[in-house]
Amino acid sequence: MKTINITVPVEELSFEELTAEERILVDTARQATYRSYAPYSHFSVGAAILLGNGEIVAGSNQENAAFSSGTCAERSACFYAHAQYPNTDFRCVAIAARGTDGEFVNDPIPPCGSCRQSLLEYETLAGHPVKVLLAGRDKVYRLPSLKTLLPLAFTEF
Ligand code: THU
Repeated sequence: MKTINITVPVEELSFEELTAEERILVDTARQATYRSYAPYSHFSVGAAILLGNGEIVAGSNQENAAFSSGTCAERSACFYAHAQYPNTDFRCVAIAARGTDGEFVNDPIPPCGSCRQSLLEYETLAGHPVKVLLAGRDKVYRLPSLKTLLPLAFTEF
């Protein structure tokens, strides 16, 4: 028997420490939270994806009275991005959220398991790492790839 330890590098930065391109992406994710439809949870999430063609596609969580019919911000963004630009690779994903008080959450919000699985497939398609920015109010977690969010992932069959 042996133990395999999987470590995930997470950089913690201030907003000012991000590159100009990263700051734009985080701002876009923050703005997207205001287009969320979250009358049930009152938790508004925004995601923004930078594509290889320079486009930024944003999405937000869209809820429904039949709860399981709604979708998270990350999946609304990645499905829309690939539906619009099927031949363009993902480069970077930023995620932000506002809580029930309407304020941006202090601690960065990582995506749920279904969103990690969905996002990861586009990294596999891209054939290179897709950077991740998880934006809190005063700090941002930067991860080098979507794979780091989902170690031991199911990626093919
Ligand atoms: N939500 C997201 O948009 N992304 C996640 O990764 C986790 C949760 C949404 C779903 C629901 O509309 C609200 O946040 C509360 O769970």
